[in-house]
Amino acid sequence: MAGREDTFSYRLWRYDGAPGELIPLLQSAQDHFGYVPRKAINYIAGVTGIPESEVYGVITFYSQFRLRPMGKHVIRACAGTACHVSGSKMIIETIEDELGIEVGGTTDDGLFTLNTVACIGCCSLAPVIMIDDETHGQLTPASLRKLLRAFRRRVKISGSKAACGDAAVAG
Ligand code: FES
Repeated sequence: MAGREDTFSYRLWRYDGAPGELIPLLQSAQDHFGYVPRKAINYIAGVTGIPESEVYGVITFYSQFRLRPMGKHVIRACAGTACHVSGSKMIIETIEDELGIEVGGTTDDGLFTLNTVACIGCCSLAPVIMIDDETHGQLTPASLRKLLRAFRRRVKISGSKAACGDAAVAG
């Protein structure tokens, strides 16, 4: 839990014009809201005097900042070496196509956010993705589409928790 000194409103309140404060302000906003909403950009621009366009430019420059909330479920597609040689590029493109988003994006219904990671630690199951804390390996584009559609169907039911040791393998 963040201390009072780390909260977005406190940081805005104590802003004294010191250079280099924009990034910490944006980090506080993202910690507070889960992303950097329009109103936070307005507040920051108003308090600091930095033009909104400049604040927006910093947000879009750094990949750590999000302009939209994270989806309810986060898909982490492995782009590490073992997964890369096992077809992770095709796996990522399949997810993008199936969900209609790009890496870093969130579906319009707010259900999924897609990110890539360097290695999930289940290289023997490559190519691998995680949906929240479920690991799915040995995927093909066809099995992946099946998986995503099945996941969508059961999304209202609490999912099973699979770790690396008992990862689901595409069949
Ligand atoms: S490279 Fe993908 S799990 Fe290790």
